[in-house]
Amino acid sequence: MAYRTIKGTHDILPEEIHRWQQLENVVHSIAGHYGYNEIRTPVFEDTGLFSKSVGKDTDIVSKEMYSWEDRSGGHLTLRPELTAPVVRSFIQHNLGVRSPLQKLYYIGPLFRRERPQKGRQRQFHQFGVEVFGSEHPEQDVEVIALAHHIFKELGIKDISLKLNSIGSGDCRRNYRSALIKFLTPFKDDLSETSQKRLETNPLRILDTKIPHEKEIIQNAPSISDSWTDEDKSHFESVQSLLSGLNIPYELDEHLVRGLDYYTRTTFEFVSEDLGAQDAVCGGGRYDNLVEMLGGRPTPATGFAAGMERILLSMVTSEQTDGRESIYLINLGKAVTMKALQMAQELRSNGITVYMDTKRRRLKAQLREANRLGTKKAVILGEEELKNNRVQVKDLLKGEQEEIAMDQLAKYFIV
Ligand code: HAM
Repeated sequence: MAYRTIKGTHDILPEEIHRWQQLENVVHSIAGHYGYNEIRTPVFEDTGLFSKSVGKDTDIVSKEMYSWEDRSGGHLTLRPELTAPVVRSFIQHNLGVRSPLQKLYYIGPLFRRERPQKGRQRQFHQFGVEVFGSEHPEQDVEVIALAHHIFKELGIKDISLKLNSIGSGDCRRNYRSALIKFLTPFKDDLSETSQKRLETNPLRILDTKIPHEKEIIQNAPSISDSWTDEDKSHFESVQSLLSGLNIPYELDEHLVRGLDYYTRTTFEFVSEDLGAQDAVCGGGRYDNLVEMLGGRPTPATGFAAGMERILLSMVTSEQTDGRESIYLINLGKAVTMKALQMAQELRSNGITVYMDTKRRRLKAQLREANRLGTKKAVILGEEELKNNRVQVKDLLKGEQEEIAMDQLAKYFIV
């Protein structure tokens, strides 16, 4: 075979699509109930948008972006995440002026050149939300509650919420210095990556998966020691509001996230079923990003959830798409026109109609109707056409009755 999907990318085939649609429908419906509106942005953007927001020393920007120089000389990148594009759009279209509390959600593909494995692809999909305009803890909690609600609706079990606050800018600057001071004596014991991070982004070392590094950081200073009074009370409110909504959480002071724009609340939903790639959803507050990208200072918060990972942990109840359908068996060229007209009329009445266009025999068309799981077949042959009548066959019971052609739509609309 000459061409195949590129490593780390996948076709979503017809037999999988109804699970995707089920997931997308739940997202549209629940985001709607929370008063969020959908936004769609282009799949590629100026490279600078990501290096400035996600951070040039992060894995995403330094190793994983699909970037190229455009013919006009500009530097472009396939979006590796959607927060920065949504912020760009928020600023560009003055969305903050239109509504002081702007609540947006999205569904779409993202691109990161990571090593593919279960739950990790180079083209993957996220749904997510971004809210602009409130610095208050109730907004963090609404966003977390929305994600929690969607997971519950999808029947995802064994999922837990990890929560942390990485404080405001001042707090992080102090904590960064404290962490460098603590880790420097261990520098030679650290991996090459962590040694680099010690200079560029020491907080990311807290995220390490290497056992002996985990041991070292067990005794590292805690970020909570660097919180300002406001950081502390903000985070306490987030926790008490979550408890008030009966949303369980675990505190994890090493949850720093792999993107640079966060301030204060950070969170992740992790699933026990997923193995190494266990983060189903990640998010948090990013109060400085709008200003950093050239907008007016605007507090903001949001999350994004990986749809492939959700589908891996989603229990699907039914294997079919659930549509009631009819198979229109048409026999012979003479009936083609009438069959097409009948199918159109039924479809205009909201009925799903399969129709043979391979000019197959009766037996083959019946077999196909059974394969598709249709319960009723309408049979139209030359004899029926002459009499303006059709046969309606119940494929489960095997019974058959004859009805007038002009009564057909009425017959099927219950
Ligand atoms: P993130 O943690 O980089 O955050 O990604 C969010 C989720 O996307 C992850 O928890 C995971 O489920 C999924 N994901 C990430 N990379 C891959 C991959 N290579 N293959 C499959 N799934 C993947 C963000 O993207 C932030 N923009 C989230 C956010 C929104 N923060 C505030 N607002």
